[in-house]
Amino acid sequence: MATKTQTKFNPVEMPLRGKLFVPGDKSIAQRAIMLAAMAEGTSHIYGVPKSGDVMTVANAVQKLGASVKFSHSKNGNNRNVDCEITGWGALGPAPQAQDIDCGNSATCARVLMGVLTPFNLSKILDGDESLHHRPFMRVVDPLMQMGANFKVVAQKNGKPQRSSLPMEIIGTLEPNALYYEMPVASSQVKTSILFAGANTPGTTTVIEPFQSRDHGELLLKRFRADVEIDKDAFTVSVTGPSQLKAVDINIPGDVSSAAYYLTAAALVPGSKITIENVGINETRLGFVKALERMGARIEIEELDSLDEPVGNITVQYAGRLNSIEVLDEEIPSMIDEIPILALAAACAEGESIFYGIRELKLKESNRIHTISEGLRQLGTRAIDRGDTLYVEGGIDIEAKRSIKPVKKVVELAHHGDHRLAIVWALIGLCGYTPTIVENFSKVSSISYPNFMDDFNELVLEEQ
Ligand code: S3P
Repeated sequence: MATKTQTKFNPVEMPLRGKLFVPGDKSIAQRAIMLAAMAEGTSHIYGVPKSGDVMTVANAVQKLGASVKFSHSKNGNNRNVDCEITGWGALGPAPQAQDIDCGNSATCARVLMGVLTPFNLSKILDGDESLHHRPFMRVVDPLMQMGANFKVVAQKNGKPQRSSLPMEIIGTLEPNALYYEMPVASSQVKTSILFAGANTPGTTTVIEPFQSRDHGELLLKRFRADVEIDKDAFTVSVTGPSQLKAVDINIPGDVSSAAYYLTAAALVPGSKITIENVGINETRLGFVKALERMGARIEIEELDSLDEPVGNITVQYAGRLNSIEVLDEEIPSMIDEIPILALAAACAEGESIFYGIRELKLKESNRIHTISEGLRQLGTRAIDRGDTLYVEGGIDIEAKRSIKPVKKVVELAHHGDHRLAIVWALIGLCGYTPTIVENFSKVSSISYPNFMDDFNELVLEEQ
């Protein structure tokens, strides 16, 4: 059995100052790698983060027949690598039976299912324990309508499985175009259907209840697929079959990684930081708008970019934050930042309410449960009722106290969830009481391998 480590995070009692480049965007990099693998020719992807989830996708497309070579990042950011990919193009993915390991990444598994749907092959997709519990019907159902078949495979312990990994996908040479109204806003599902649609004759259309991140459709266009986007109607169509063509792409910094430091700077008196060259795609900026509504002082400077919108984001401490109400329709634009926003709410004045967050129950952990359990241990009140989370601003960082007494050192559970592991580390570093987080390096490296090094750059910068 693997040994468990425990890392203690002590309050640094210093403001965060200075400038930082965070690693490249995981979500964009994963999609760019898959599209480069599908394309004809050799693509270059610059600024790929070395996070576990991205390497999982790179390994998967390699197994499927793409050639992948890594080199040092041309921008000199050692948190990233550059990636040269020669796609399988018109040949399609290699049909030889080989299982694909999707690690901890639901994006890898769900989107790959779409990539494989329009081909005559069968593959077993598996992943870690957490992926054995994530829902897959949301993607299996539309892909079956496009002609794929799925077989649930028993897990190693022989337990019967329902609609989760491991699962065998059997693609089809005669895929059907699809018109699909999605029951939930999910970028993974939308991307999966569109990537299948790119190799399917006719027009495939997806309509979302709310706008989710749009990296998949923007990148499909860059790889020369015939894509139409109607932003106001949350509708995207792709007309296929189209042979994608190799391109060169720059990946911006990951705004979800930046969110930890931006929030910390809004919470810790005397802080002022700038995250440089980070993605500022509107569909990801919900948390910036939320923090601003809470009273944070934030400036965004847009930079020139041929690819996704990029900019520098500066946050300066401007006093204790106020509470906030977040509505259902805002959730997709901040889906991965709810944990850090809930922490901000716990440090704000008054009670905050997050509506319509049922999707959070289905992430790497049941995030509603993991967040509220941890916040209560940190001396504040957090209650979840159905798909609403109420958080009382019980932690006062400036006064170094919480409304309820807490243990001298608070051990917080993340249930294997990388975003929660980082949030619990951050409140130890920026709060009033040390925290302990189990297996921090391993779990956080799924999305952010050098989190502590980057944090240290901001607090050790000349004050
Ligand atoms: C992701 C989309 C989101 C997000 C996940 C990454 C992506 O999931 O929570 O961490 O890269 O498409 P959903 O699209 O299922 O909401």
